[in-house]
Amino acid sequence: MESVTADDPIVCLDDVRKEYALGGTVTALDGIGLSLPAGSYTAVMGPSGSGKSTLLNLIGALDTPTAGRVSVDGTDIADLSENDRAKLRGTKIGFVFQTFNLMPRLSARENVELPLVFAEWDTDRRTERAESLLDRVGLGDRMDHMPQELSGGQRQRVAIARALATDPAIVLADEPTGNVDTETGDEIMSLLADTHDRGNTILLVTHERRIAEHADRIVHVRDGRREDTETIGGDR
Ligand SMILES: Nc1ncnc2c1ncn2[C@@H]1O[C@H](COP(=O)(O)OP(=O)(O)O)[C@@H](O)[C@H]1O
Ligand SMILES: [Mg+2]
Repeated sequence: MESVTADDPIVCLDDVRKEYALGGTVTALDGIGLSLPAGSYTAVMGPSGSGKSTLLNLIGALDTPTAGRVSVDGTDIADLSENDRAKLRGTKIGFVFQTFNLMPRLSARENVELPLVFAEWDTDRRTERAESLLDRVGLGDRMDHMPQELSGGQRQRVAIARALATDPAIVLADEPTGNVDTETGDEIMSLLADTHDRGNTILLVTHERRIAEHADRIVHVRDGRREDTETIGGDR
């Protein structure tokens, strides 16, 4: 985060449109602006189909906008090659998905180590980092378990540990509690709160108000457009 001063947003979207050509044209985002200050915790909330995942995928440099500008840490993602976008994802962004997206044939530890393999960390450091993160998310006694030997909540904890492996500046979470029960969902949300307390910028998308309320700010979206913004008060 060297290039970012305290007042610069780490993520900035300006009048972003995303259209998918699918028979006709589907407009998933219809002119969205959004600015995330470094260290902020924002929830984007809207009904299914409102463009939330599309928005996260653009910020996560998985895709590029049809029009408008998406900048991450001062770089317009449209100016990056495919390779440089992958590099940005691998160093600055951690993803947490509704369906966990763990590698089924890798153990919990190996799943967390994977981003560090791509980042070319040496084996000892990788293992040490993975074990310390799995400890942090309460899975110190499950490091060698395979994903299918873990509950949904435990899988999502592994996914959070994996998202944090490279200590990314930005954590993007797409309906992270969508496939776990309410109590487990609360545990997942408190891990995200802990991550925010440690200084990461978090963007969460959800259709559920009680999940969105864990953030400091809720940005409402509908039909690919921004609606009102709420500030969530009080200490957490
Ligand atoms: N890859 C795609 N191809 C075509 N249409 C898509 C694609 N991804 C999303 N859409 C459409 O874009 C709109 C927004 O989708 P999405 O961002 O997934 O919404 P949300 O995450 O809020 O449910 C929907 O109408 C959806 O059908
Ligand atoms: Mg979605």
